[in-house]
Amino acid sequence: MMTFKTRIMKEKLESYFNNKYMFTLCFVISVINLSAQKVTIPIATDSNLILLQTDASNVLKTIYFGKPLENESEYPGVFDAYNFNDSNAGVYNGAYTPAGTWNLSEPAIQVKHADGNPSLELKYVSHQKEKVDNNATLTRILLKDPVYPFEVTLCYKVWAKENIIEQWTEIKHSEKKAVLLQKFASANLYFTNKDFYLTSFQGEYLKEMQPVESKLLQGIRTIDSKMGTRAMLLQTPNFILSFGKPASENQGTVMMGQLAWSGNFKMDYEIDSYKNLRLIAGINPFASEYSLQPNQVFKTPALLYALSNNGTGEASRNLHDWARKYRLLDGQGERLTLLNNWEATYFDFDEDKISALFKDAKDLGVDMFLLDDGWFGNKHPRNNDDAGLGDWQENVKKLPHGLGHLVKEAKKEGVKFGIWIEPEMVNPRSELYEKHQDWVIRQPQRPEVYFRNQMVLDLSNPEVQDFVFGIVDNLFTKNPELAFIKWDCNAVIYNAYSAYLNKKGIPQSNLYIDYVKGLYKVLERIRAKYPKVPMMLCSGGGGRGDYEFLKYFTEFWPSDDTEPVERIFLQWDYSYFFPAIATDNHVTDWGKQPIKFRIDVASMGKLGFDIVASHLNEKDKLFCKEAIANYNSFKNIVWHGDLYRLVNPHENDISAVMYVNPEKSKSVVFNYLVNNRYKLTATQRPVVLDGLNPKKKYTVKEINLYPGTTSTIASDKVYTGDFLMKVGINPNVTLQRTSVILEINEVN
Ligand code: GLA
Repeated sequence: MMTFKTRIMKEKLESYFNNKYMFTLCFVISVINLSAQKVTIPIATDSNLILLQTDASNVLKTIYFGKPLENESEYPGVFDAYNFNDSNAGVYNGAYTPAGTWNLSEPAIQVKHADGNPSLELKYVSHQKEKVDNNATLTRILLKDPVYPFEVTLCYKVWAKENIIEQWTEIKHSEKKAVLLQKFASANLYFTNKDFYLTSFQGEYLKEMQPVESKLLQGIRTIDSKMGTRAMLLQTPNFILSFGKPASENQGTVMMGQLAWSGNFKMDYEIDSYKNLRLIAGINPFASEYSLQPNQVFKTPALLYALSNNGTGEASRNLHDWARKYRLLDGQGERLTLLNNWEATYFDFDEDKISALFKDAKDLGVDMFLLDDGWFGNKHPRNNDDAGLGDWQENVKKLPHGLGHLVKEAKKEGVKFGIWIEPEMVNPRSELYEKHQDWVIRQPQRPEVYFRNQMVLDLSNPEVQDFVFGIVDNLFTKNPELAFIKWDCNAVIYNAYSAYLNKKGIPQSNLYIDYVKGLYKVLERIRAKYPKVPMMLCSGGGGRGDYEFLKYFTEFWPSDDTEPVERIFLQWDYSYFFPAIATDNHVTDWGKQPIKFRIDVASMGKLGFDIVASHLNEKDKLFCKEAIANYNSFKNIVWHGDLYRLVNPHENDISAVMYVNPEKSKSVVFNYLVNNRYKLTATQRPVVLDGLNPKKKYTVKEINLYPGTTSTIASDKVYTGDFLMKVGINPNVTLQRTSVILEINEVN
C-alpha cells in the first residue's frame, strides 16, 4: 500500500498530467503503480463473489461479480481478461462513481461543497473486515476526496450461508459549512454479461406488485417513487435481475433485491456501451438535495440482495430464511389469527355490535378480534373517511365505556383485542388540524390537496414525533392487554412543505428524507418500550412493505384486493421477497368463490377473517372451524418452512405452491384453478413436487374438504420422495374441484 507522502505526490502528478499530457499520464501512473500495488477486496458469500480493485490512480472499481473463484491467487488477473481499454474504460465500473470530475455517466454521488464547488473525486484509502458472527462479515471501505475534506465509506454486510448482501454508504465531511448532497446512492454495482433481464413490480391501489419483465437495452431504465409516504403505490423497490436469460424458478443466475427505504426511491439500470449493466440504487434525489452539516454522518438506506445460481426459488428461500432469522420482527415466532370488522361494519358500529363479533371470533376459533377504523373522534366523529383523523379518543357515542371495556369483553370470550390506527395522518375536519395546522405538511400559500380527504403530519418535527409516539403509548398505557396494532397510512405527500424546517432554517429539500427518518425514530421508541407486541403495516392496501419497516413490524397487509383468484397471483408475486409469516391474508366476501377457496388461499400466509361470521350457513360455518383447526396444525410449516413455487399462475391454468418443514417430513401443497375455460390441459398433468427427501416415503392426504364432499386422492398410497419429485401427484383440480390442499406426511 502507498504511504501518505507517495499518495499526495502521485495525486499532484496526476492532476498536473491530467491537464497537460493525457498520453504521458498512462505511463506515469503505471510507473507509479510499480510501487503502488493494486488493492483487491473480495466481498464473498458462499456462492457469489464481488471483486473490487483499485486502478492505477487509486480509484476503486468493480472487476468481477459472479460465481466464486477457487484460487485467490487468480483474483488480480480478472481485469486483464476484459479488453476495456477505450476512453470509457474505468468510468462505467466505478465502485462508487462521483460527479463533477472524470465521470460523465450516471453518478452514484453528486455534491456541492461548502464553497459552492461541484466537483468530487473519490480515492481508495483503506478498508477493514469485521467478523460479525460465524455467518456474517462486515466490510467497510474508506474513500476520500484528495482536495476537499469529504469522505465516503462503502459498507457491505454479507450473510455467507444465505447469500445475502446488505450494502449501504456513509457520507461525511469536515468542511466549514454544510455540504449539499445532490445524489447519494446506497449502491453502485457493475455486472458483465451478454444479456440482462429486469423484473420490476409495478402497481396501483388493488393491483399491487404486478411483475413486468423486460430485457434491458442500452440506456437507462429507471424504477422510482415520488409518493413520499406510501412509496410502493405505483412502483415498488423490489426487483429481480437475471443474467444471460430470463429468470426461472430453478435455473439461472439471479439477483433478487430491494431498496430497504420507506420513502422515495430510485433505481437506475443502465446498459453501457460495452453492453454491461450498471445499477445505481438509493433514495430518490428528486426534490431532496440534502444539507449535511460538518462531521455528521449521512447513512444511506441499504440495498439488500439475494444471489443465486439456481434460479428465483433458491433466492427466495434464502431471503425468507434470512428475513426470519435476522430482520423481520419476531420472524421466528408465532402470529395471531384474527377476525377484523372492517368489511363487516365499515364505520357503522357501536359497542354491542362489536361485542357480538367477539363471540363470532371465538366460535370460529381465531386468536384475536381486530377493531378497524371508525372508533375515535368526538367533535368530528369518524363516521366516514372525511373526519376525525388525528383525534385519537374513543367516540363516546359508539363506545361509551371506552376501549378498556372492549378489551375486557373480548377477554371474557377468550379472544385477544387489537386496534387500527393511522397515526401519521390528519383530516382537515379534526381538532388536531384546528390546533396544529403547523404540524401538517402543506403549502401555506396554496390550496390544500387531499388524498382520501386527509393530509400527512410533518414527522421531521420532533413535536410531531412525540405526538405519534404518544398515540401508541397512550393506547398501551391505558390498555396494557391490547394485543395488536394495525398501523395504516393512506395519503401520499402533496404540497411538500414543512413549517418546522422553515422555522429552523433547514432547507425544505430535507423534508422527504427527514420525514422517513422521523418515522423510524418513532418506531425505535415504540419498540424500545413495547418490543414484542405484533404490529401490522398497512397502507391503503399494500402501499408500504420493505425490510427497513419490517425491523419494527411483524407483518404487513399486501393489498385491499382480497378477491381470492387475484390474491393467488398477488401472494405468488410477494412471495419472491417475503416469507409467508410476514404477509396477512384475510378471508372476505370479495368475488364469487366459495368459502373453501377463499380460506384455502388465505391460508398461504397469516390467516385472518373479515366477514360476518353469523351470516354464514351451517355448512360454511362448520367448514370454517375445521379449516382453522387444520390451519393451526400446519401453520408452522407455512410460516417457518421452505417455500417451493411449483406451478406459476401467470403461465398456467392452475397454480401450485408448497411449503416443507426443515426435516422434510411434512409438507402442505396448495393447488388452485385460475382459469375457468372448459378444456383445461394443465389439469391433466401431475404437479411435480420439490423440496422432499428422495429417499423418504410419503403419503398424500387431501385436507380442508368441504363438508359432504369426498377426496379423489387415495390417502393410503405410499410414494417415494423421488417419485413425487419426478412424476408428481395429480391434485385433480377441475372446474368442480377448484381448490385442493394436500398434506404430505413421511411414513416410517
Ligand atoms: C385502508 C386499509 C383497510 C382499512 C381501511 C380503513 O384502506 O387498507 O384495510 O383498514 O383503510 O379506513
